[in-house]
Amino acid sequence: MSAVLQDTFEVELFDAPLGAEIIGLDLNRPLSRRDFQRIHKAHLDHHLLVFRDQRITPQQQVDFSRRFGPLQIHVLRNFQLPSNPEVLIISNIIEDGQPIGLGDAGHFWHSDLSYKETPSLGSMLHAQELPEEGGDTLFANMHLAWDTLPTALRNAVQDARAEHSYLTQYEELRRRSPFRPALTQAQIDEVKPVVHPVVRTHPETGRKALFVSEHFTTRIVGIPEDESRALLAELYAHSVLPEHVYRHRWAPHDMVFWDNRSLMHLAGGTPPHLRRKLYRTTIEGDTPF
Ligand code: SIN
Repeated sequence: MSAVLQDTFEVELFDAPLGAEIIGLDLNRPLSRRDFQRIHKAHLDHHLLVFRDQRITPQQQVDFSRRFGPLQIHVLRNFQLPSNPEVLIISNIIEDGQPIGLGDAGHFWHSDLSYKETPSLGSMLHAQELPEEGGDTLFANMHLAWDTLPTALRNAVQDARAEHSYLTQYEELRRRSPFRPALTQAQIDEVKPVVHPVVRTHPETGRKALFVSEHFTTRIVGIPEDESRALLAELYAHSVLPEHVYRHRWAPHDMVFWDNRSLMHLAGGTPPHLRRKLYRTTIEGDTPF
């Protein structure tokens, strides 16, 4: 790790293709405007920030998240935290026969809410209860994925657009796990498929990033289906090469804040007999261009 000294906290870069740890900042205490601006900049520079040992309430997580933009409410309302509907419970815990949270979130690589017209700017996950083994989250740097894409593939996709859909994998996940309730017509209407560029430009840094994922991207529009499938398979394989990926091993009370415009993520899996619970807030971004 190399340390970059800040005024009131340090930003330590990970020895990884993305990510940094914010050291010496307590999210219980009010943030000065200057500290906020430094966090914002570190987030843009490193795409993922880890704040260790944060003893904050869900309301504090919501308040901190809101500093970056309006929050998005997940379509699965049954996994909202009752006191804070902006918080989605991510958990494999079953109580009285009922899941208390979305246990299979992140089962496939994805960028949060890419199936919306305005996908997420970034998400925060705050660890509440962690398993003794497993439960890691993996993140892939989609700027690097684009920068290193072989020329023929770049040329094939640089102006392409792709459809994203929440529903396509939903039934498949529903067959496999207890975490997916049947959707009402209102919920289905809320997640109509959308089309986004395959290569997006980060609205704040101007950097280009691949913006397709195995969870939500269904096809590249305007080309035959088999060609689309083959191209997407190549893009997915390239995106998650080990040199593009950081694996987060959770520690108690970690708060991780990542940029969904720059990264994809994947839940690495938790042994089913071990309990895992995290709270997620999701900040709304812009229409990708
Ligand atoms: C998510 O996809 O937001 C959850 C990731 C995880 O559970 O590790």
